[in-house]
Amino acid sequence: MCGIVGYVGGQSALGVVLEGLRRLEYRGYDSAGVAVLASSRLLLAKKAGKLSNLEKLLAEASEAELRTGTTGIGHTRWATHGGPTDRNAHPHLSADGRIAVIHNGIIENFAKLRAELQASGVEFASDTDTECVAHLLAAELAGVAGSPQALADAMRRVCNRLEGAFTLLAVDAQAPGAVVGARRNSPLVVGRGNGENFLASDVSAFIEHTREAVELGQDQIVLITAEAIEITDFAGNPAQGRDYHVDWDARAAEKDGHAWFMLKEIAEQPQAVADTLRGRIGEHGEIMLDEVRLTDQDLRDVDKVFIVSCGTSYHAGLVAKYAIEHWTRIPCEVELASEFRYRDPVLDRSTLVVVISQSGETMDTLMALRHAKEQKARVLAICNTNGSTIPRESDAVLYTHGGPEIAVASTKAFLTQLAACFLVGLHLAQVRGVKYADEVGAVLAQLQEMPAKIEKVLAAMDPVRELGRQLAETNASTVLFIGRHVGYPVALEGALKLKELAYLHAEGFAAGELKHGPIALIAGPAGDGRAFDRGTPVVCIVPSPAGRGVLHDKIVSNIQEVRARGAHTIVIAEEGDDAVVPYADMLVRVPRTPTLLAPFVTTVPLQVLAAAIADASGHDVDQPRNLAKSVTVE
Ligand code: M6R
Repeated sequence: MCGIVGYVGGQSALGVVLEGLRRLEYRGYDSAGVAVLASSRLLLAKKAGKLSNLEKLLAEASEAELRTGTTGIGHTRWATHGGPTDRNAHPHLSADGRIAVIHNGIIENFAKLRAELQASGVEFASDTDTECVAHLLAAELAGVAGSPQALADAMRRVCNRLEGAFTLLAVDAQAPGAVVGARRNSPLVVGRGNGENFLASDVSAFIEHTREAVELGQDQIVLITAEAIEITDFAGNPAQGRDYHVDWDARAAEKDGHAWFMLKEIAEQPQAVADTLRGRIGEHGEIMLDEVRLTDQDLRDVDKVFIVSCGTSYHAGLVAKYAIEHWTRIPCEVELASEFRYRDPVLDRSTLVVVISQSGETMDTLMALRHAKEQKARVLAICNTNGSTIPRESDAVLYTHGGPEIAVASTKAFLTQLAACFLVGLHLAQVRGVKYADEVGAVLAQLQEMPAKIEKVLAAMDPVRELGRQLAETNASTVLFIGRHVGYPVALEGALKLKELAYLHAEGFAAGELKHGPIALIAGPAGDGRAFDRGTPVVCIVPSPAGRGVLHDKIVSNIQEVRARGAHTIVIAEEGDDAVVPYADMLVRVPRTPTLLAPFVTTVPLQVLAAAIADASGHDVDQPRNLAKSVTVE
């Protein structure tokens, strides 16, 4: 939620900041704005809507200094306080125009601060919580000669008055050549350049300029100039960040010839899964998770597993539950992070809480992990983003190596999370001795076949894209997804993709539940002559007939039940499964895959379908309305 960039160096700050905002726009796209410091002038431009609106405004701007200034900050917004208007766009200025501030997060005590400032005569120019910070900084600096240090000191004093979650960047017209940042419960990374330094919500904003990053800790202030990076805590004590090298380059954050990031990310899935498995399987077929900072004894002591996450990551957890319980015989519960701590779950030292998050910044998940730690549970993070808060606060971490995921809709994150969860499940089984080495080795060998199988699915997606175009043309009003066993979370994921991208009502059901109510939603062809006049589309995820036959037979019956009521069935079934042929209005074949691993192949057509409907409907596939990639508010 909200993308933030700061720059000090020898280049045009406007150019660097706009480029950074372009890469961060997936974090929020309600408005965008920049502030550039040139000599001792603070120049500001901001506009509601997407970054392109700001770029148009800037193209007409006459001040040359806007382009020549070498210190600047920029923001792309996901609105919380105050609607997505020009006046609420960041940066916000102090009343005297000296200080410009940008912010990601929510300042929870803003109403009290605002009232206090208003009582002292300050007039507000926006409805945001952020503007308070600009006025508070100005009050701290009133009568003080501008300097980078003075700005950092003022920021520290102001942060000590703030409650909630925030990343803040500020510049002072009287302190050119410096940007000060602060973070609490919200992301901020430093890019260490040569004669230039960067601040950003994530490394993609500056990856073109440097791959050397510094991860900031909780409650830290950072002051950057062209030559130096100084970090202190909120009490003013010198503090250390963690230096790390970013192991992907700018190309990974480009569309690379694809119309949308989402399509690129779908296509990258075979590689992303292979990369997540790489280096974690030993030559004798054993799992090596040395990087996970939990000892074998820790894992032997586990008597209950909770998986806690949101959205697509939650669906990955639902799949993982089947595998973990089957392989380890340890009870495993899966919880929505936003609900977890409010229902007072039973946790203790022998509980393993696995938090799954692509971004590593999801506030609901972060709060759940903190709750788990307070209850003395051990927390293992499965995360895609190095340097993010969730892995830093967890006891242990297993990174997915998916590379940057920019499209708001999660795709490769899901498949790599599955791979990571399966590794964790097998590792638990291995160290607890509940599976023989050859059994673990056999599943690992199957896992290693997944990239090639996903590749095969991707190569056969033209009919799915065509179906997407038809559904878009005819304004289908609802699409249902049904599955059993691991096919059930896949059904939920397929429905989520359709809701968020195609703005189409979609629901995923456990196929066996249909007869308990949802089957009433099925309607036959309306006969009103529309192009897609074939009854309610129902996507059916069919398990392998080679697995538990009962499972397969049951879903074939469910398909017949919906078809008998007029549904148009889109059946996803494996090659050679002839039993489904008579009941499939459209048949999408996927390679033969063991039941537990089937989501690697059955999810892909659902991603392609959602992207195709969204694209054909003229929606922004990468930036669906009302959403943002990284949900850093509760
Ligand atoms: O970064 P996280 O994995 O923690 O994000 C969780 C959800 O916000 C995310 O999966 C969301 O549901 C996606 N937009 C779904 O495509």
